[in-house]
Amino acid sequence: MASIGSKPVTKFRGDPAIFGTLVEDHDHHRQLLAQIEQTHGASTERKQLFAELTAEIKGHAAAEEQALWSTVLRKPEITEDGRHAVAEHKEMDDLLEELAATDMATGGWLLKFKKVKEEYLHHIKEEEQELFVSVEKKLSKDDKSYMDSIFKQRKGAEKAKARKAS
Ligand SMILES: [Fe+2]
Ligand SMILES: [Fe+2]
Repeated sequence: MASIGSKPVTKFRGDPAIFGTLVEDHDHHRQLLAQIEQTHGASTERKQLFAELTAEIKGHAAAEEQALWSTVLRKPEITEDGRHAVAEHKEMDDLLEELAATDMATGGWLLKFKKVKEEYLHHIKEEEQELFVSVEKKLSKDDKSYMDSIFKQRKGAEKAKARKAS
């Protein structure tokens, strides 16, 4: 199995409410990104891992928006954090679409993949180290555990929807 490399330090890893659940997903995405980087050409392994990564990232982003960012957007003092995260989700969607439209057998695919990897690692690190830190202070314990249940309810359904669409 490919080495995941370094997992940036975050106080949210292992947190029992929504932020711990989100970081657990992020770590899974880091693992998938590292695995895909070691695949070659239009191999079955690359195809399967890329389909899994795409469904994971899209399902995670949709459920994260429904559980967390939608509430954050309604709070004026932190709305900018929500706008930032949602805008990056849209950018990631576009990058994934561009990558899906590129021939996997060419070297261009891996180059574009590396761009996706870089952008996504930036996104999740920023969430963990800046955005979650900022918004956590404005959410109550009840908010956070409610959000965790919404995320867990929605993630599977959104992932299945993303898989169907691709
Ligand atoms: Fe996100
Ligand atoms: Fe996230």
